[in-house]
Amino acid sequence: MSRINQHPIIDFNKGREVKFTYEGKEVIGCEGETIASALHSAGVRVLHETDTKHRTRGLFCAIGNCSSCLMKVNGVPNVRICVEPLREGMTVEKQSDKEKVELDSNIRTPIDSGEKMVQAEVVIIGGGPAGMCAALEASRYGAKVILVERNYDLGGQLTKQTHKFFGSEKQQAGTRGIDIGVEIQERIMSDPNVEIWFNSTAVGFYKDNTIMVERENAVYGLSGESIIIATGAFEKNLVFPNNDLPGIYGAGAVQTLMNIDGIKPGDDVIMIGAGNIGLIVSYQLIQAGVNVVGVVEAGPDVGGYKVHASKIMRAGVPIYTRHTIKGAHGSDKLEGVTIAEVDDKWQMIQGTEKNIKADVMCMAVGLSPIVELFFQAGCELKFIPALGGYVPVNDEHRNTTVDGLLVAGDSGGVEEASSAMLTGHLAGLTAARRLDYVEDYDDRHCDLMDQLNSLRSGPHGVKIVEGIQRLREGMVTAGGK
Ligand SMILES: Cc1cc2nc3c(=O)[nH]c(=O)nc-3n(C[C@H](O)[C@H](O)[C@H](O)COP(=O)(O)OP(=O)(O)OC[C@H]3O[C@@H](n4cnc5c(N)ncnc54)[C@H](O)[C@@H]3O)c2cc1C
Ligand code: FES
Repeated sequence: MSRINQHPIIDFNKGREVKFTYEGKEVIGCEGETIASALHSAGVRVLHETDTKHRTRGLFCAIGNCSSCLMKVNGVPNVRICVEPLREGMTVEKQSDKEKVELDSNIRTPIDSGEKMVQAEVVIIGGGPAGMCAALEASRYGAKVILVERNYDLGGQLTKQTHKFFGSEKQQAGTRGIDIGVEIQERIMSDPNVEIWFNSTAVGFYKDNTIMVERENAVYGLSGESIIIATGAFEKNLVFPNNDLPGIYGAGAVQTLMNIDGIKPGDDVIMIGAGNIGLIVSYQLIQAGVNVVGVVEAGPDVGGYKVHASKIMRAGVPIYTRHTIKGAHGSDKLEGVTIAEVDDKWQMIQGTEKNIKADVMCMAVGLSPIVELFFQAGCELKFIPALGGYVPVNDEHRNTTVDGLLVAGDSGGVEEASSAMLTGHLAGLTAARRLDYVEDYDDRHCDLMDQLNSLRSGPHGVKIVEGIQRLREGMVTAGGK
């Protein structure tokens, strides 16, 4: 069992114990935690074996973004067990690569049939901090909002951030991310202007700004005067031998297991990346009683805030700067890693290899915006490395190049949670203005932009600001009002 029984910050409100079966054997988990967490706590790390090369697979993102955890649940294949809550009596089985899904060949979209078309004033895709703040802002001016979230709860990545936030009083500096998340969730759940569609996934962008949403085994066509996309970001991996071994997790997976479901991701964790996420998650691991065997960073210095680096160094964790990962080892899951020094051109230096025992490698090597819906909508996108990859061109009102389509949060360029909330507010404000509901637009916009600019004014904001300038060179957005 790898459950965290005591934590200095988090009180885990675990559900009652329930029985379910995994590959025909009875297993016990806690109701409401994800199936992946229950299996992990029962020692199951290998979730799948590929049909042809017999490579084993485990979790990678644990936030519903990749397909590494697909299993058959109650006979239904392709269930993302990292976001599916555990219930009494479930049957969970491994599936093959060629698992068949029974498709109804007569299936028609709502656009074909005219059925299940739903109209809102503002449609928001993604219930992370950006989407939630966009909803609250639009609602504050009286707009009727439908907020679509593919998971069973709101909060996105904010719900795992146990560290205290920086910024000013307006960004609740000094308050922990999880507490900010709870407070926003409570406000939004009691907001009469906001209807929330949980367990609902936006799967396609169609003509006339209509979004197709898969919900409870049906497809809905959702359209609005404005559509705000706030789908967040996914984690990058690195290329090295055996980078697919179970036990190699994104930082989001480690945070989900540890900070949401109270499960230790492993015994000995090696962190790859000394940016803010790598440093923060390393400290969170130490708080959860996990041994962090080292932090590996290819750059000459840590990329994140020094205050985070000092905390983990004080705990005795070595930070290997100018090092990279040469390979991972293990028969069916991770058992150890080899790291090596790199030269100024980031080439590995022969003879500098070190072997380190680890059962978890936590990848914190950057995020890329989730932008498929923008591509489908025909938005102009640019590749801006400082913002994480392809990003929809957008202005400071959050308009994209498609009229009525706005962007908020990480999907418009990866920053951090406070900026995501502010860009959410900006998008919600613009959406309300498009409905002619806003009288104090200039004042409110100015206030939000001042807060955002102040967040971006430190040394860590320089790259972001340059990235945004490049994104907006020669920009012609739809603008709107
Ligand atoms: C793994 C990870 C760890 C992070 N750790 C930190 C940290 O420690 N500190 C920090 O400041 N920042 C961290 N960040 C950075 C992140 O910028 C912010 O914390 C913030 O959560 C971004 O807010 P967001 O609303 O844009 O995206 P998210 O918080 O990612 O929320 C996006 C939401 O959209 C939903 N969604 C996605 N696609 C669809 C769809 N098609 N249909 C319906 N819903 C959809 C998702 O389920 C999710 O709830 C982290 C990001 C990631 C990915
Ligand atoms: S979707 Fe479940 S691990 Fe990525």
